[in-house]
Amino acid sequence: MENKIYLKVFDSKSLEALNKLEGDGYISNLTGPLSTGKESYVFKSRDSQNREVAVKIHRHDIKSFKKIPSYLVLRGSKSGGFLRRINLWTRYEFNFLSKAFNIGINVPEPYRVYENILVMQFLGEGDTPAKLAIKTTDFDKERWYSEIVDSIIKMGKAGFMHGDLSPYNIMNFNDRPYLIDFSQALKLSQATLEYLKRDIDNVNRWFAKMGLDDISDSENIIGRINKSYVKG
Ligand SMILES: Nc1ncnc2c1ncn2[C@@H]1O[C@H](COP(=O)(O)OP(=O)(O)OP(=O)(O)O)[C@@H](O)[C@H]1O
Ligand SMILES: [Mg+2]
Repeated sequence: MENKIYLKVFDSKSLEALNKLEGDGYISNLTGPLSTGKESYVFKSRDSQNREVAVKIHRHDIKSFKKIPSYLVLRGSKSGGFLRRINLWTRYEFNFLSKAFNIGINVPEPYRVYENILVMQFLGEGDTPAKLAIKTTDFDKERWYSEIVDSIIKMGKAGFMHGDLSPYNIMNFNDRPYLIDFSQALKLSQATLEYLKRDIDNVNRWFAKMGLDDISDSENIIGRINKSYVKG
């Protein structure tokens, strides 16, 4: 990580973390960026086995800090402050992404988390990332709807939800909907049921707008998640 551009883009802690990941073979030079959001940067890279990876770096700044879900800030250590909480948040995202991957949801395979950096499978072909669902309607709407609803139910049964589900966080990879960005994911409980409803409503509104008729309402979908998983 000696490119001068990196020195301009990243704070020294992030650079140290990138160097550590490079030394351990999880990444090499970064290319892209695939995305430069307010809270994170996403780059493409290759690991030492020459696998293509996506590298999501949570910015060590106040905007990023403000996006940390309040329940996590409450739970996070009071000592250490800012950087530590962003790192904790990155780990939290990685853990939910891993849970989703382990129960067979279509998500990028998680490879490694270190401090504020998450390394995962690159979704795309060659240098071209897969399209975000918001940018295309070129897919089988009925099949996609049922796959996304099945994923919501499966995650619900495993006790969690995505928390920020929308066509901005779904990619069209190999003709299938892949869920990305688990940074707002949440455990499912009576207290968080409203967020699950919001996820479902977002998906329903999106498919209704595309003209799909056969849409299940959120009560119906929530009802298909065994109630015993919704602990109070
Ligand atoms: N595994 C991946 N493979 C390819 N591209 C990816 C991958 N993960 C993320 N991206 C790209 O990076 C973008 C941002 O990723 P993500 O949604 O996880 O971050 P974010 O926190 O929402 O970013 P922002 O700060 O822009 O809101 C995605 O919209 C997508 O274009
Ligand atoms: Mg996102």
